[in-house]
Amino acid sequence: MAVEVPVRLALVGLGAIGLAAHLPAMLRSEAVQVVGLADPSPERRAAAAPRAPGAAVYADAAEVCGAAGVDGVVLATPPWVTTGLAEQFLRAGQFVLAEKPIAVSTADARKLATLPDERQRRLQVGLTYRHDPALARLREWIRDGPLHGPLLIRAHIYDERLNAKDPDHSARIRQTLRHGPPVLHEGAHVFDWLAFLLDGASPRVSDAWSVRSDPGLASPNLNGARLTYRCGTNVLVEFGWLTSELPRCELSILGQHGYAVLDGFTFRLTLTADGETKVYDDPVDRTERCFDRQLGAFVDLVRGRSDRAVPGLPEGLAALDLSERIAATASMFTIPGRERT
Ligand SMILES: NC(=O)c1ccc[n+]([C@@H]2O[C@H](COP(=O)([O-])OP(=O)(O)OC[C@H]3O[C@@H](n4cnc5c(N)ncnc54)[C@H](O)[C@@H]3O)[C@@H](O)[C@H]2O)c1
Repeated sequence: MAVEVPVRLALVGLGAIGLAAHLPAMLRSEAVQVVGLADPSPERRAAAAPRAPGAAVYADAAEVCGAAGVDGVVLATPPWVTTGLAEQFLRAGQFVLAEKPIAVSTADARKLATLPDERQRRLQVGLTYRHDPALARLREWIRDGPLHGPLLIRAHIYDERLNAKDPDHSARIRQTLRHGPPVLHEGAHVFDWLAFLLDGASPRVSDAWSVRSDPGLASPNLNGARLTYRCGTNVLVEFGWLTSELPRCELSILGQHGYAVLDGFTFRLTLTADGETKVYDDPVDRTERCFDRQLGAFVDLVRGRSDRAVPGLPEGLAALDLSERIAATASMFTIPGRERT
């Protein structure tokens, strides 16, 4: 069998997730050659460069845009930067795997939605955890039993603990809050899981709330909502950042004949049905298995094995739209055209 030539990818954004998850996945993959690294920060470039010898290193992502020998880019940049970069790379004809959320508002995302269809199809959105087998298993239980609907789903997503010993982390999360509350940033993942589990159904936002536990924060750091689906399923979502202590982080699904709990950090899955509890635990670390699968899907896209990226722009926009509707209902963040009605 002929050996396939690796796809040539550059990593743009060498921050926390770029260096902790994307670069390791790219280096693990035999299907990928890391040809470029870009970040305006000299410290970030210095941290990344020795890990990918042979990759060209750039201070300005524009140098990678349209460059010969770069089939695609992974954008691990803040969301207020990602949208514009994704647009430039797609216009240049390159493939893009862009971190979530794809934008900080649907208004901002419009620049992507108006690109020609053929370019939009080259965009994969980093809704990383939808690639996890645990979600596929949950979907199967919802479709075929024992978790038949209507369901009560509770998604309690509490992470980014306030840690006095890690001021860089606090500064990064505080900066992120300037561009929207946790429901906008974490909601991207959770609303994509819900869309995946509930076959793309779109809910009504029946109620939403927000709390700013530290008055110095730019957005409320605790947010929640009640979502109602046509099928009778109700979802209670909560998101929380930057408190010294955090409640449990998990997704639970209760139906007439079963109860499932997905651990928010490890994706360890338990199902209780017919009086018996079964545990499904993947031995491979969640970050590693999800980033590897996500990258595998992107390689297939670049190689032309898939016609469009999944999750792509439609999935990224759907999650963003729901996040915005919740934020507007709770009036936690003023979004143009999305003020409380
Ligand atoms: N998929 C996931 O599981 C997951 C997990 C964590 C974070 N994220 C997302 O990843 C993104 C980045 O998060 P992070 O925590 O790594 O942030 P970070 O601030 O640690 O890293 C962002 C990096 O992008 C760089 N950057 C900024 N502007 C740039 C530009 N124009 N060109 C090139 N580089 C630029 C910054 O210098 C920084 O090094 C966010 O959108 C976040 O929501 C996703």
